[in-house]
Amino acid sequence: MTEAWRPGDDDERSRRGARASVKVRVPAKINLRLAVGPLRPDGYHEINTVYHAIALYDELTARRADTLILTMDGEGTGELALDDSNLVLRAARALAAHARVPAHARLHLRKQIPLAGGLAGGSADAAAALVACDELWGIGLSRDELAGLAAGLGSDVPFLLHGGTALGTGRGEAVSPVLARPTTWHWVVAVADGGLSTPQVYAELDRLRAVGAAPAPVGPADDLLAALRQRDPHVLAGALGNDLQPAAVSLRPALTRVLETGVAAGALAGLVSGSGPTCVFLAADGADAQTVADALTDAGVCRTVHLVHGAVAGARLV
Ligand code: C5P
Repeated sequence: MTEAWRPGDDDERSRRGARASVKVRVPAKINLRLAVGPLRPDGYHEINTVYHAIALYDELTARRADTLILTMDGEGTGELALDDSNLVLRAARALAAHARVPAHARLHLRKQIPLAGGLAGGSADAAAALVACDELWGIGLSRDELAGLAAGLGSDVPFLLHGGTALGTGRGEAVSPVLARPTTWHWVVAVADGGLSTPQVYAELDRLRAVGAAPAPVGPADDLLAALRQRDPHVLAGALGNDLQPAAVSLRPALTRVLETGVAAGALAGLVSGSGPTCVFLAADGADAQTVADALTDAGVCRTVHLVHGAVAGARLV
């Protein structure tokens, strides 16, 4: 993995002081394994997941200003609210309140990660905002302090700071790195038309379980962690799994055809990413990934196809 947070980075950041303009790049995430436990009293489900950051990026530019403003281009423009409900602005305000500085910045988001796609695009943007504003305002918080703020913004935000491949527990916010030698995995990402609401997908899983219609849970990730260590995509393919997949497919039956198309074209495995509706396919190598991508495009079963690799670093200054 190339994503390690290096000791000394924090010191270097604080020495540099406030900057006039900064740019941060942040990846999307997929879940190689997502085991969902019961609903907790706080409305979240206990999960055990293996997060994996893929090379599909959003970019956030932050400039000095005397107010807080967000603009955007790319995926979701015209659909994504740019008001105070936006996770980028919530992240900037949370950091400013924590550091007791004015929340003043001109932020521009360039999006490639689809909205409500199960790729944690909103969480990625929140992670990018924390890193960008921390640098712009010369605050120099440690990764642990940033991760604390991140957890308050959303379950996936701490992982998007971290990147790489990591185990997520609790509601997903407790992140610890997976120790495996650096390996490049080849993925095809099939983006659907329209999104799925994460709370609705979790609720659908609860409903399917209540009526006895959910398949057996995927269970903890031990075999998946062993598969990562073997560095063989055929082995990894057999260990992928997502408890939310039957719920996403129940709400969006057309996903079955997407999954079948990718596997028929030679993918080693296909699965719904997080709460969907994006589907991801593991390929043996870059050439096979291209074949799978072409087949998905030709079949007209998705809106956009991306060829990406993982694992990549989390939110970083560029
Ligand atoms: O944490 P985040 O805001 O991303 O979660 C969005 C919603 O997804 C939650 O309000 C909850 O309905 C659902 N969720 C869950 N269990 C988790 C994570 C999210 O039920 N571990």
